[in-house]
Amino acid sequence: MRKHIVAGNWKMNKTFSEADELLNDIMEGLEKVELNRDTLIVVCPPMPYLEMATDYANDSYFTVGAQDVSANNNGAFTGEVSAEMLQSIELDYCIVGHSERRAYHHETNSIVAAKINQLLAHNIRPIMCCGELLDEREAGKQFEVVQRQIEEGLFHLDVEAIKNVVIAYEPVWAIGTGRTATPEQAQEMHHHIRTLLTAKYGASVADEISLLYGGSCKPSNAKELFAQPDVDGGLIGGASLVADDFIKIAQSF
Ligand code: 13P
Repeated sequence: MRKHIVAGNWKMNKTFSEADELLNDIMEGLEKVELNRDTLIVVCPPMPYLEMATDYANDSYFTVGAQDVSANNNGAFTGEVSAEMLQSIELDYCIVGHSERRAYHHETNSIVAAKINQLLAHNIRPIMCCGELLDEREAGKQFEVVQRQIEEGLFHLDVEAIKNVVIAYEPVWAIGTGRTATPEQAQEMHHHIRTLLTAKYGASVADEISLLYGGSCKPSNAKELFAQPDVDGGLIGGASLVADDFIKIAQSF
Protein backbone atom coordinates (compact mmCIF):
# COMPACT_ATOMS: atom_id res chain seq x y z
CA MET A 1 0.00 0.00 0.00
CA ARG A 2 1.27 3.46 -0.86
CA LYS A 3 2.48 5.85 1.82
CA HIS A 4 0.64 8.88 3.11
CA ILE A 5 3.10 11.75 2.93
CA VAL A 6 2.93 15.28 4.26
CA ALA A 7 5.92 17.31 3.07
CA GLY A 8 6.71 20.86 4.10
CA ASN A 9 8.37 23.07 1.51
CA TRP A 10 9.76 26.04 3.43
CA LYS A 11 10.86 27.72 0.20
CA MET A 12 13.22 30.68 0.84
CA ASN A 13 12.16 31.46 4.38
CA LYS A 14 13.69 31.57 7.89
CA THR A 15 17.04 32.64 9.30
CA PHE A 16 19.25 30.04 10.95
CA SER A 17 17.87 30.71 14.43
CA GLU A 18 14.27 30.78 13.18
CA ALA A 19 14.87 27.48 11.36
CA ASP A 20 16.30 26.01 14.55
CA GLU A 21 13.19 27.10 16.46
CA LEU A 22 10.78 25.75 13.85
CA LEU A 23 12.56 22.38 13.68
CA ASN A 24 12.49 22.17 17.45
CA ASP A 25 8.77 23.06 17.50
CA ILE A 26 8.03 20.39 14.88
CA MET A 27 10.02 17.78 16.85
CA GLU A 28 8.28 18.65 20.12
CA GLY A 29 4.88 18.92 18.47
CA LEU A 30 5.20 15.50 16.86
CA GLU A 31 6.00 13.96 20.25
CA LYS A 32 2.61 15.08 21.55
CA VAL A 33 0.36 13.73 18.82
CA GLU A 34 -0.78 10.36 17.56
CA LEU A 35 -0.22 10.10 13.85
CA ASN A 36 -1.61 7.48 11.57
CA ARG A 37 1.27 4.98 11.41
CA ASP A 38 1.41 5.13 7.63
CA THR A 39 2.01 8.88 7.55
CA LEU A 40 5.48 10.00 6.57
CA ILE A 41 6.47 13.58 7.40
CA VAL A 42 9.13 15.24 5.25
CA VAL A 43 10.61 18.64 6.10
CA CYS A 44 12.30 20.51 3.23
CA PRO A 45 14.17 23.55 4.58
CA PRO A 46 16.58 25.75 2.59
CA MET A 47 19.99 24.20 1.80
CA PRO A 48 22.01 25.87 4.62
CA TYR A 49 19.78 24.24 7.24
CA LEU A 50 19.67 20.70 5.84
CA GLU A 51 22.31 19.30 8.11
CA MET A 52 20.74 20.85 11.20
CA ALA A 53 17.41 19.39 10.06
CA THR A 54 18.90 15.91 9.71
CA ASP A 55 20.28 16.20 13.27
CA TYR A 56 16.77 16.95 14.54
CA ALA A 57 15.30 14.22 12.34
CA ASN A 58 17.56 11.62 13.97
CA ASP A 59 15.64 12.22 17.22
CA SER A 60 12.21 12.78 15.74
CA TYR A 61 9.42 11.36 13.59
CA PHE A 62 10.21 13.28 10.44
CA THR A 63 12.64 12.90 7.61
CA VAL A 64 14.40 15.57 5.57
CA GLY A 65 14.31 16.62 1.95
CA ALA A 66 15.98 19.30 -0.15
CA GLN A 67 14.10 21.74 -2.36
CA ASP A 68 16.24 21.34 -5.45
CA VAL A 69 19.34 19.61 -6.83
CA SER A 70 21.74 20.15 -9.71
CA ALA A 71 21.20 18.27 -12.96
CA ASN A 72 25.00 17.84 -13.13
CA ASN A 73 27.67 15.73 -11.52
CA ASN A 74 30.14 17.45 -9.15
CA GLY A 75 32.39 19.98 -10.82
CA ALA A 76 32.56 23.58 -11.99
CA PHE A 77 28.96 24.63 -11.38
CA THR A 78 29.20 27.59 -9.00
CA GLY A 79 26.33 27.82 -6.56
CA GLU A 80 24.87 24.41 -7.32
CA VAL A 81 24.42 21.45 -4.99
CA SER A 82 24.81 17.91 -6.32
CA ALA A 83 22.83 14.77 -5.57
CA GLU A 84 26.05 13.23 -4.28
CA MET A 85 26.31 16.02 -1.68
CA LEU A 86 22.71 15.49 -0.61
CA GLN A 87 23.33 11.76 -0.36
CA SER A 88 26.43 12.40 1.76
CA ILE A 89 24.28 14.10 4.42
CA GLU A 90 21.81 11.23 4.20
CA LEU A 91 18.81 12.99 2.74
CA ASP A 92 15.90 10.81 1.74
CA TYR A 93 13.88 13.14 -0.49
CA CYS A 94 14.28 16.11 -2.80
CA ILE A 95 11.66 18.28 -4.51
CA VAL A 96 12.21 18.78 -8.25
CA GLY A 97 10.39 20.72 -10.94
CA HIS A 98 8.57 23.06 -8.59
CA SER A 99 6.59 25.63 -10.57
CA GLU A 100 8.67 28.43 -9.03
CA ARG A 101 11.81 26.86 -10.48
CA ARG A 102 10.09 26.25 -13.81
CA ALA A 103 8.95 29.90 -13.90
CA TYR A 104 11.96 31.78 -12.48
CA HIS A 105 14.81 29.47 -13.44
CA HIS A 106 13.50 28.24 -16.78
CA GLU A 107 13.49 24.59 -15.80
CA THR A 108 12.17 22.47 -18.62
CA ASN A 109 10.80 18.96 -18.41
CA SER A 110 14.10 17.63 -19.72
CA ILE A 111 16.07 19.43 -16.98
CA VAL A 112 13.61 18.00 -14.46
CA ALA A 113 14.21 14.52 -15.93
CA ALA A 114 17.99 14.97 -15.60
CA LYS A 115 17.63 16.02 -11.95
CA ILE A 116 15.46 13.00 -11.27
CA ASN A 117 18.14 10.76 -12.77
CA GLN A 118 20.78 12.34 -10.53
CA LEU A 119 18.65 11.80 -7.44
CA LEU A 120 17.76 8.19 -8.20
CA ALA A 121 21.40 7.41 -8.96
CA HIS A 122 22.15 8.58 -5.42
CA ASN A 123 19.26 6.79 -3.70
CA ILE A 124 17.26 9.95 -3.02
CA ARG A 125 13.55 9.90 -3.76
CA PRO A 126 12.38 12.72 -6.00
CA ILE A 127 9.14 14.57 -5.25
CA MET A 128 8.33 15.71 -8.76
CA CYS A 129 5.98 18.68 -9.04
CA CYS A 130 3.59 19.20 -11.90
CA GLY A 131 0.63 21.49 -12.44
CA GLU A 132 -0.98 23.90 -14.86
CA LEU A 133 -1.09 27.70 -14.96
CA LEU A 134 -4.38 29.54 -14.54
CA ASP A 135 -4.70 30.38 -18.24
CA GLU A 136 -4.02 26.75 -19.14
CA ARG A 137 -6.88 25.66 -16.86
CA GLU A 138 -9.15 28.35 -18.25
CA ALA A 139 -8.37 27.07 -21.73
CA GLY A 140 -9.24 23.51 -20.62
CA LYS A 141 -5.65 22.34 -21.16
CA GLN A 142 -4.82 21.22 -17.61
CA PHE A 143 -4.84 17.48 -18.33
CA GLU A 144 -2.71 17.88 -21.44
CA VAL A 145 -0.15 20.10 -19.64
CA VAL A 146 0.22 17.75 -16.68
CA GLN A 147 0.40 14.73 -18.97
CA ARG A 148 3.34 16.28 -20.83
CA GLN A 149 5.14 17.11 -17.56
CA ILE A 150 4.70 13.53 -16.36
CA GLU A 151 5.65 11.88 -19.66
CA GLU A 152 8.70 14.05 -20.32
CA GLY A 153 9.83 14.21 -16.70
CA LEU A 154 9.31 10.60 -15.68
CA PHE A 155 8.44 8.15 -18.39
CA HIS A 156 12.04 7.38 -19.31
CA LEU A 157 12.26 5.55 -15.95
CA ASP A 158 11.89 1.80 -15.73
CA VAL A 159 9.43 0.04 -13.42
CA GLU A 160 11.86 -0.31 -10.51
CA ALA A 161 12.93 3.34 -10.68
CA ILE A 162 9.44 4.83 -10.91
CA LYS A 163 8.47 3.12 -7.64
CA ASN A 164 10.85 5.51 -5.84
CA VAL A 165 9.20 8.64 -7.17
CA VAL A 166 6.57 10.76 -5.44
CA ILE A 167 4.45 13.07 -7.59
CA ALA A 168 3.01 16.35 -6.32
CA TYR A 169 0.19 17.98 -8.26
CA GLU A 170 0.36 21.69 -7.59
CA PRO A 171 -1.92 23.82 -9.74
CA VAL A 172 0.04 27.07 -10.09
CA TRP A 173 -3.09 29.20 -9.56
CA ALA A 174 -3.48 27.64 -6.09
CA ILE A 175 0.08 28.21 -4.85
CA GLY A 176 0.35 30.95 -2.24
CA THR A 177 -2.95 32.44 -3.38
CA GLY A 178 -5.31 31.11 -0.74
CA ARG A 179 -7.32 29.65 -3.63
CA THR A 180 -7.23 25.89 -3.05
CA ALA A 181 -8.30 23.39 -5.69
CA THR A 182 -11.59 21.81 -4.69
CA PRO A 183 -11.31 18.21 -3.50
CA GLU A 184 -13.07 17.23 -6.75
CA GLN A 185 -10.54 19.13 -8.90
CA ALA A 186 -7.66 17.54 -7.01
CA GLN A 187 -9.15 14.05 -7.28
CA GLU A 188 -9.89 14.46 -10.97
CA MET A 189 -6.25 15.36 -11.74
CA HIS A 190 -4.79 12.74 -9.40
CA HIS A 191 -6.99 10.13 -11.06
CA HIS A 192 -5.72 11.32 -14.45
CA ILE A 193 -2.11 10.96 -13.25
CA ARG A 194 -2.78 7.49 -11.80
CA THR A 195 -4.37 6.46 -15.10
CA LEU A 196 -1.27 7.59 -17.02
CA LEU A 197 0.94 5.64 -14.60
CA THR A 198 -1.26 2.57 -14.96
CA ALA A 199 -1.11 2.67 -18.76
CA LYS A 200 2.68 2.94 -18.69
CA TYR A 201 3.69 0.76 -15.72
CA GLY A 202 0.65 -1.37 -14.86
CA ALA A 203 -1.93 -1.05 -12.10
CA SER A 204 0.05 -2.59 -9.25
CA VAL A 205 2.98 -0.20 -9.76
CA ALA A 206 0.69 2.83 -10.24
CA ASP A 207 -1.06 1.87 -7.04
CA GLU A 208 2.18 2.11 -5.06
CA ILE A 209 3.04 5.66 -6.11
CA SER A 210 2.08 8.43 -3.68
CA LEU A 211 0.38 11.43 -5.28
CA LEU A 212 0.43 14.62 -3.19
CA TYR A 213 -1.67 17.73 -3.59
CA GLY A 214 -0.10 21.19 -3.11
CA GLY A 215 -1.49 24.71 -3.26
CA SER A 216 -2.93 26.61 -0.28
CA CYS A 217 -3.37 23.38 1.67
CA LYS A 218 -4.03 24.21 5.32
CA PRO A 219 -5.49 22.63 8.47
CA SER A 220 -9.00 23.74 7.49
CA ASN A 221 -9.04 22.00 4.09
CA ALA A 222 -6.52 19.14 4.41
CA LYS A 223 -9.03 16.55 5.66
CA GLU A 224 -11.37 16.95 2.71
CA LEU A 225 -8.49 16.86 0.23
CA PHE A 226 -6.82 13.83 1.82
CA ALA A 227 -10.15 11.98 1.89
CA GLN A 228 -10.07 11.73 -1.91
CA PRO A 229 -9.15 8.22 -3.07
CA ASP A 230 -6.16 9.30 -5.18
CA VAL A 231 -4.85 12.06 -2.89
CA ASP A 232 -2.15 10.48 -0.73
CA GLY A 233 -1.01 13.59 1.11
CA GLY A 234 0.18 17.12 0.59
CA LEU A 235 3.11 19.31 -0.32
CA ILE A 236 2.66 22.26 1.99
CA GLY A 237 4.14 25.73 1.54
CA GLY A 238 3.01 28.58 3.80
CA ALA A 239 1.34 26.38 6.42
CA SER A 240 4.56 24.36 6.87
CA LEU A 241 6.21 27.46 8.40
CA VAL A 242 3.98 27.18 11.47
CA ALA A 243 4.65 23.98 13.42
CA ASP A 244 1.11 23.64 14.78
CA ASP A 245 -0.49 24.05 11.36
CA PHE A 246 1.93 21.64 9.73
CA ILE A 247 1.29 19.00 12.38
CA LYS A 248 -2.48 19.50 12.17
CA ILE A 249 -2.25 18.86 8.43
CA ALA A 250 -0.23 15.70 9.13
CA GLN A 251 -3.07 14.55 11.39
CA SER A 252 -5.66 15.00 8.66
CA PHE A 253 -5.81 11.42 7.39
P1 13P B 1 1.37 27.11 -0.49
O1 13P B 1 0.95 25.99 0.42
O2 13P B 1 1.98 28.27 0.22
O3 13P B 1 0.27 27.49 -1.44
O4 13P B 1 2.55 26.51 -1.42
C1 13P B 1 2.40 25.29 -2.01
C2 13P B 1 3.69 24.89 -2.61
O5 13P B 1 4.15 25.49 -3.56
C3 13P B 1 4.41 23.77 -1.99
O6 13P B 1 5.47 23.36 -2.77
